[in-house]
Amino acid sequence: MKIVIVIPTYNEAENIGLMIEALAQEFKQNPANEFHVLVVEGNSPDGTAEVVKQKQSLYPFVHLLMEEKKAGLGAAYAFGFKYAMRNLSPDVLVEMDADFQHDPKDVIRLVEPFSQGYDYVIGSRFTKGGGIPQDWSLYRKFLSVGGNIFSKMVLGIFSVNDFTSGFKASRVQGFVDKLDLDNILSGGFAYKIDLLFRMHKLGAKIKEVPIIFGLRDRGNSKMENNNFMDSLRVVLTLRFGKKVTALMSPNFLKFCIVGFTGLFVDTGLFNILRVTLLSSNYAALTSGTIAMITTFLLNNYWSFKERKLEGMTKKVISWILYVVVSFVPILIRSKLVGIATASFGNTFIVSNVAFVIGVLFGLIWNFTMYSKIIWRKSK
Ligand code: GDD
Ligand code: MN
Repeated sequence: MKIVIVIPTYNEAENIGLMIEALAQEFKQNPANEFHVLVVEGNSPDGTAEVVKQKQSLYPFVHLLMEEKKAGLGAAYAFGFKYAMRNLSPDVLVEMDADFQHDPKDVIRLVEPFSQGYDYVIGSRFTKGGGIPQDWSLYRKFLSVGGNIFSKMVLGIFSVNDFTSGFKASRVQGFVDKLDLDNILSGGFAYKIDLLFRMHKLGAKIKEVPIIFGLRDRGNSKMENNNFMDSLRVVLTLRFGKKVTALMSPNFLKFCIVGFTGLFVDTGLFNILRVTLLSSNYAALTSGTIAMITTFLLNNYWSFKERKLEGMTKKVISWILYVVVSFVPILIRSKLVGIATASFGNTFIVSNVAFVIGVLFGLIWNFTMYSKIIWRKSK
């Protein structure tokens, strides 16, 4: 088999030379396969390309593809895959990082399943025997694990546990050569989810092999800050189609997150106040007011940031409007809770059912009013 390992690099001068050396050792131990390394260089200022060129004079299996400028991980892979298919006629394309978070010793294990008829092999961190760095922050662990469970449920690919692994191998014939690499859904890290979904749709036989994802020893991560939103957009677009993408603008997603935060504050406070200080209808009134203030601030400074209300007068007028508008469902809700508890008893179930009905009405009302009146698009 002819295997081309595509390694995108941006400022990896400290890593790429060592990586090529380490891979050379592995290739020696697997003479049955013909290995090549294609470095897709994002025009790094740190001299990464020079290191690669120097290795090219030692190893004929090293290829260097220069990008005009850094354009994201998805763009680098699309560029590299197209180049490899045109010039190197590979049977298998491997995706791998330069920074030793992927162990070069795992490459052979990653390509072995192709001889058993597999078409897509994922180096998986979330399958038995795999792992992520212990030192990762709770936040990153949560994003990684949560994102994978979410992708699995929404995309309905239950055999896969690691949707964003950067270490994987794909069969070219009948698979990568059928992908429209000029139209991937993301130029960034989220392209992984798109390609995985398309390989699955092409009927690829998928296998996960466990990998331990290491810590980066040298250099810095290039993970984009918008990676989370971008991945969410890709997953939802794959599942619900392009039409939904219009709704899935970063604005809308943020609006939903703010909505959920508000709901969380609202429900939590409602129940705390209800059992401690206040009667149910006053608890609903108070929690609603506090949630309203929270969501106003979050909407103005985060989800509708570009439509942010500038100027004191505009802010004050909008705030008054916001309060008036938002108060309608809060009042209705408080009344609803009052009537329900008076008629059916002041229990958790009764008060919360009435509360949720009120909240649902409020969501629809608020969404319509906010986008039409308060943060309306300026012409
Ligand atoms: N040419 C090019 N252009 N290379 C890039 C770019 C780019 O815009 N962005 C990153 N790279 C290179 C890096 O130099 C590195 O070799 C590799 O792509 C991965 O980048 P890292 O910055 O090391 O990514 P990471 O460690 O945060 O993310 C890894 O884990 C993710 C899952 O947690 C990667 O393997 C991702 O693919 C993976 O989704
Ligand atoms: Mn990395």
